[in-house]
This record gives sequence, structure tokens and C-alpha cells, in this order.
Amino acid sequence: MFMPGEAANSLWIERYRPKEFSEIQGQQHIIKRLEAFVKNKNIPHCIFSGPAGVGKTSVSLLIAKKFHGENWHQNFLELNASDQRGIDTVRTIIKDFCRTKSIGTDLPKLIFLDEADALTKEAQHSLRRMMEQYSETSRFLISCNYSSKIIDPIQSRCAIFRFKPLEREDIKQILLYVAKNEKLDIDADALESMIDVSEGDARKAENILQSCASLGKHITKKHVFEIASAAEPKEVIDVLTLALHKDFQKARSKLLDVMTNHGLSGIDIIKQIHKEIWNLPLTDREKVNLIEKCGETEFRMVEGSDEYVQLEAFLAFLTVVKEEL
Ligand SMILES: Nc1ncnc2c1ncn2[C@@H]1O[C@H](COP(=O)(O)OP(=O)(O)OP(=O)(O)O)[C@@H](O)[C@H]1O
Ligand SMILES: [Mg+2]
Repeated sequence: MFMPGEAANSLWIERYRPKEFSEIQGQQHIIKRLEAFVKNKNIPHCIFSGPAGVGKTSVSLLIAKKFHGENWHQNFLELNASDQRGIDTVRTIIKDFCRTKSIGTDLPKLIFLDEADALTKEAQHSLRRMMEQYSETSRFLISCNYSSKIIDPIQSRCAIFRFKPLEREDIKQILLYVAKNEKLDIDADALESMIDVSEGDARKAENILQSCASLGKHITKKHVFEIASAAEPKEVIDVLTLALHKDFQKARSKLLDVMTNHGLSGIDIIKQIHKEIWNLPLTDREKVNLIEKCGETEFRMVEGSDEYVQLEAFLAFLTVVKEEL
């Protein structure tokens, strides 16, 4: 969500990535254990599961830096499981990396595998084999949104850490810290609104703050709503209304417009729809039915079903929701 024209390295989510374990807000149950692993120079394979923007990648980078000290770069490999080049490339890179001993130390190398729930079952089995094969020389840190999507044989080889959405107070501390450093003046109600819209996601909070700050050093509630509504278009209401009036074709083309204009994924849209359902002119029963359908649609998308098919099915359901009762 950063403004065009800014260098990527000035993204605040990178500038304010915690550099010490003590700078991580919340997740205290996790941090204590990880610090002990690092201190004892004994790290198991780990799974970090949890929602976006709560510190999974930050913690992994910290482990690498604290574990390997100044050599950390050479002994740390960061990979994204949803790498466009496919699992074969990922496998080759891991093999090449693991084949040699750590540089300048006897400690195992660390491989950080992001978005591991994007891996197919077969790819996960091959990952499991690599974990066995290279367990002498390497440890895997596996990050995912849902640990249930990781196959049992991997889960049973790992210590599992469940990250939680950050508390309001944690997000507040993060925002205040950034604001102080960037010399921003945030109205009290603007701060509360930012905490509301970020929904426990520190990345979202910092991105919204950065976008607001590009409008000026004094941040008001109005700014926050302007920025947040760009990411959460109110046009979604129009799509729902069209579908409720049984104008399926228009609803569908409007939906495509919203998605392409705002660059939103199916999951973004269904979450937005979910928020708007209570504002629709429907009975409570009808709303409850829709909420249930929303849940089903979201689940199917997360499971990998085509998002357009799912969204259209949802719109189709909307056109009949009133008749069904
Ligand atoms: N617990 C936290 N304490 C302080 N800052 C945080 C915390 N979690 C996230 N942040 C901020 O948000 C940014 C993004 O966090 P991070 O990359 O660790 O999220 P993540 O959990 O890996 O998310 P994703 O699942 O989307 O990869 C960090 O650079 C940092 O600025
Ligand atoms: Mg991450």
C-alpha cells in the first residue's frame, strides 16, 4: 500500500522490523522459548503458524541473527514455498545449501520456508525427506497461516508455535513507536481507528500509518478512513445490493471491476463482504445464512478452489437468499 515514487527500502514495515527479541510486541509465550533455544545453541525444526503481520518472519530473522551472529547471512536461507519456479527449484536450492557445512561454526544452518501451506502434499513429503536427510547440518523454520495444512509427519518433527493476532495495546505501542520516530502527530481517535482497521495485523497498521503520513505529519481520523477505504472499497456494498436485486450480470461485472481496480484477491473480497453483511437490508435469519455461506466460500478459497467460481457462486446464492425463507 506504499505510495508510488518511494524506494522500497523506505517501507516502514522493513525499517521498523524488530531488531531484538525485546522489541517484539505480544507473543510472549513464544519469545521466551525461542530465546532459550538460541541461548542454548540448540534449535529444533520449528513451525510458526498464525495470521499475517504478527511477527513470524521477524522472529525467524531474529533467530538467525542471534544464533549465527555476524555470519548469519551465509548460514541462513530464506525461501518462499509459493515460489513461481516451483518446488523442484526450491528443492534444488535447499539441497545445494544443505550439502555444505555451516560457515565459520559447527552450528546447523537455518532454512526459513515462508508460506509453506502453499506446498502440495507431495512437495511436503519431499520436504520431510530433506528434513531427515539434512538434520545433521540444518534446521527448518516453517512459516504458515494454518498449521493444519502441514502434513502430520512434518508437524511431528517440529516444535509448533502458534502466533496470535496482536492485541490492541500491542498495535498501539507499535504505532506510537513509529509515530515518535517519524515525528508524527496522531489524533487520539485516529489512533483508535487505525487499531480498529488493522485487526491485529502489525504490517497493516504500519502500512496504513505510512500512507496517512504521506498526506502530512498531522494524522486525523478522516485520513485513516480515506486510506483504509481505498483498501476496503465501499463498492462491495453495491455488488451485494445488485445481487440482492437479482441483477446477477451487473453484480458480477461490478465485482470484477472492484477486484481489478483495487487489486484485491478473492479472500480480500469475501472478508469485506463478511463485514458488510450486517449493514444489508435483510432479516437476521437471512444474514445468518449469508454469514454461513461466507465462511464456506472463504474456506474453499483457502483450500485452493478458484476464487472467481466461488465468488460467483456466492453472488448466485445472494440472488435467491430472500426467496429461500
Ligand atoms: N509482534 C510484533 N512486534 C512488533 N512489530 C511487529 C510484530 N509483528 C509484526 N510487526 C511489524 O510488521 C512487519 C511485518 O511482520 P512479519 O513480516 O514478521 O509478519 P509475518 O507474521 O511474517 O506475516 P506473513 O504471514 O504475512 O508473512 C514487521 O516488519 C514489523 O514492522
Ligand atoms: Mg512472513
